[in-house]
Amino acid sequence: MRRPWLPLAVATATALLGGQLAFAGSATAGSDPVAAKPSPAPAYPADSLRALAARVGLRIGTAVNADELGSNEKYTQITAEQFSSVTAENAMKWAEVEAVRGTYTWEKADQLVAFAEKNRQLVRGHTLLWHNQLPAWLSTDGYTTTLSNEEVKAVLKEHIFAQVRHFKGDIWQWDVVNEAFDDNGQPRQTIWYKAWGGTGYIADAFRWAHQADPKALLFYNDYNLEFTGPKSNAVYELVKSLKAQRVPIHGVGFQGHLSTQYGYPDLLSNLERFAALGQKVALTEVDVRTLTKPDAVNVPVDALAPYAQESYWSRSLKACLAVRACISFTPWGFGDSYSWVPGWFDDPQAGAALIYDEQLNPKGQYHVLQQDLALAAGAPHRG
Ligand code: XIL
Repeated sequence: MRRPWLPLAVATATALLGGQLAFAGSATAGSDPVAAKPSPAPAYPADSLRALAARVGLRIGTAVNADELGSNEKYTQITAEQFSSVTAENAMKWAEVEAVRGTYTWEKADQLVAFAEKNRQLVRGHTLLWHNQLPAWLSTDGYTTTLSNEEVKAVLKEHIFAQVRHFKGDIWQWDVVNEAFDDNGQPRQTIWYKAWGGTGYIADAFRWAHQADPKALLFYNDYNLEFTGPKSNAVYELVKSLKAQRVPIHGVGFQGHLSTQYGYPDLLSNLERFAALGQKVALTEVDVRTLTKPDAVNVPVDALAPYAQESYWSRSLKACLAVRACISFTPWGFGDSYSWVPGWFDDPQAGAALIYDEQLNPKGQYHVLQQDLALAAGAPHRG
């Protein structure tokens, strides 16, 4: 499935013009259960992303590939050393945890939670309600199901309570609802929308998740919220209306799947306007893809593209640093070999979207993040 993207607005060269570095007032990164525990000496380098981010009260995260964690030594070491928050790339999705109706398989997700605890990382739970990666017994396409509306409502309630209770106390932020709107700002006509006869399922999902773990921060998460437009506006109105109904929503996740094919978004102003609603905000799935060679999916066609990518990474991180309510910045994985991008965006082919190369060596894009964090740590305003 291809996603419609905003039209090409600005040439790649424009991306080379950096954003403004502006740091907001002092901030700490939301509720931080780990801070309360006795902490042994840090097992990570002082110039790691996580060590630098800690100095400014920001959590730097990564999506984690369950097959690599534990089996791939270099991958595992980088995950532990560089990041202070982790997200299961797939292991907490419904298709993974309840492939067979009524039989839960938590092993992979539990392993990640144990790894995080051992390495003093916080966990973003991803995701409770989505239209993709549903178990086949429920829906093969997210839009149709053989279950009745009443059954759909009952299984969603059961799923949210089962999963949130299973991880109670272990999850810092839950992506309760993922991608409920399309790029035109219309609610997707998913099985959830149809069963409820509207978007009422969103409020119910947040209420159930809050009942199951009152301490977890509950997020709405979506892509392209970085750009002001119909989708970002629709989600803004949704959050306002949820707040008016006193629905327990605490944050908005900006996925941040960016591409040098498109102009750099007005991310900062969108983070600010959601924060002004009293929400936490977070960058939850950042990657910056560029056009690459069909036979070498992580080799950019344009030799200058990495400089544009560095600029996009840097501006995204700085936008988060500039907004006090922005509590975490999470790239969607860290090694180009493991990125979902080349397999998903292949017409035209895109890739090279992460901060480590195929051999797990840090790229220039890693170093700009490191430098930005080091600079921010030297600035007196945040942390
Ligand atoms: C992607 C994973 O990275 C892939 O491994 C999987 O095949 C498909 O899903 N938005 C989301 C993420 O919220 O869960 C998606 O992750 C990427 C887009």
